[in-house]
Amino acid sequence: METTTPSEPRLRALLEAGIALASDLSLDSLLQRLTEVAAELTGARYAALGVISPAGSRLERFVTHGLDDDTRFSIGDPPHGRGILGALITDAKPLRLHAIGDDPRSVGFPPNHPPMHTFLGVPVVLRGTAYGNLYLTEKEGGGDFTEADEELVGLLAAQAAVAIENARLYESATRWSQQLESLIEVTSALASETDLDRLLDLVARRLQELLEARLVALALPASPDELRIVAAAGDGAGEIVGTMVSRRDSKAGRILERGNSERVDSLLDDREANVDFTRRVQARTGLWVPLLLQGRPIGVITAYDKLGAPDARFSDDDVRLAETFAARAAVGVELSERVQRDALRRIVAAQELERRRLARELHDETGQALTSILLGLKQLEGAEPASVEALRELVVATLQDVRRLAVELRPKVLDDFGLVPALERLAQSFAEQTGIAVDLEAGAITERLPAEVETAIYRIVQEALTNVVKHAHAHRVSVFLTRNNRRIKALIEDDGQGFSPEAATGDGIGLIGMRERIELLDGTLTVESTSTSGTAIAVEVPA
Ligand SMILES: Nc1ncnc2c1ncn2[C@@H]1O[C@H](COP(=O)(O)OP(=O)(O)O)[C@@H](O)[C@H]1O
Ligand SMILES: [Mg+2]
Repeated sequence: METTTPSEPRLRALLEAGIALASDLSLDSLLQRLTEVAAELTGARYAALGVISPAGSRLERFVTHGLDDDTRFSIGDPPHGRGILGALITDAKPLRLHAIGDDPRSVGFPPNHPPMHTFLGVPVVLRGTAYGNLYLTEKEGGGDFTEADEELVGLLAAQAAVAIENARLYESATRWSQQLESLIEVTSALASETDLDRLLDLVARRLQELLEARLVALALPASPDELRIVAAAGDGAGEIVGTMVSRRDSKAGRILERGNSERVDSLLDDREANVDFTRRVQARTGLWVPLLLQGRPIGVITAYDKLGAPDARFSDDDVRLAETFAARAAVGVELSERVQRDALRRIVAAQELERRRLARELHDETGQALTSILLGLKQLEGAEPASVEALRELVVATLQDVRRLAVELRPKVLDDFGLVPALERLAQSFAEQTGIAVDLEAGAITERLPAEVETAIYRIVQEALTNVVKHAHAHRVSVFLTRNNRRIKALIEDDGQGFSPEAATGDGIGLIGMRERIELLDGTLTVESTSTSGTAIAVEVPA
């Protein structure tokens, strides 16, 4: 007999289901309960509730009633959402069938599946969003499911929809607040942390947690050809920190070039991903995001394998999240570079100041003291000729040393008359002391340059000349100064035995110091050297 309105026990069951909804059951137990009630109320032998993933393409949960564990186990995987179940996913409308197999969309049952004939499927929808479907089969007594059954199940399905929506809202709200907290943490670390490594480490760790990635790595350019992994979090993070990665043969290198984020759902099929590295970290999927500073890529964040996702894929939301963190990391890198440059600039300036003070002291005080000793000795001449003469020679030599030292430390002529006269002096005394001819051409520079440019170029020529005596075995050396378009160029060439600039280590801060000084002034320094044509150092600075 068909009932068109819910009878009393049915109403009670419905009510109970509603109460269950208000209690704090987990989503799974709640869906299980609703599925059971639906079976009870309609007299169905089997019932199931499938929840569609937020992306809408597959079933993310599948709750069943009426199948014992053994049967469920022998059927295997829950349905993928093809056949009749698929039809209900794409077309969210109730469906009643006398025999499932009769519907043209049916694809049949997997092996070990109990036979099912009569069928009622009702979509789980709320405000137009389809969250899944409630399915019932095998109505007691062999009859078909009725319209009243359909209505009742519709009510239960609506409750299921509310529960699923609540759970999703709760999940995304927690995720949001977690993301916000981590962002605030990273942002405040940016303001307080002076140690870049610690900051990048924090970025990697928080991102790995939020993305639920197996591994997150952060790489910065280490040279024109390589990136260095400077921070990592997750599986095997310890082993990859410090690893160098070729820029040409890696995805990270390409991303650094292009400056765009990218998601790769199958690393096996990606031609840019570095095969060795992918194998080493055993990754299936990946996510790459550049660190952008005013649109310029300065580093790359990589995440591998989303844990929890059945196919390990990341989503577009994950990309956006990583981009937010990458922006913070970029600011951190920039700040730290600026702090380092400032510190270096202060050190260089302080050094020059100290040298200037020492030079003045040597020249003025020590030099004068020695001169007066010399004058005193003159008066003693003839008294004890031999010993006085020896003493006088010693004092003269010392006085020369002191003057030379004073000039080396910081020639007064550099402060008083500028770069060109100072270089002329330097070239002259160099030639006198070493016997190596210096060809200086600096006619292009007619006026004074900014003090730090004059000092930097002077120090570079000075160090280059010292290197020529120490290492080059040269006969000639030339120093050319030219200027064009507000840029000063200096070229120091010798005809010595040359060296290999890449391999040169030196004990000194010589070549390295030159480069640092020039970079502080936003200039460039290149060293070319061969055993046949000697060494050429070219410097260019804006002035
Ligand atoms: N003009 C040059 N000719 C030959 N070799 C050079 C020259 N300049 C530098 N080098 C090589 O480069 C190395 C590094 O130079 P540098 O950084 O000034 O350190 P240092 O002079 O203290 O050794 C030197 O040890 C030397 O081998
Ligand atoms: Mg040197």
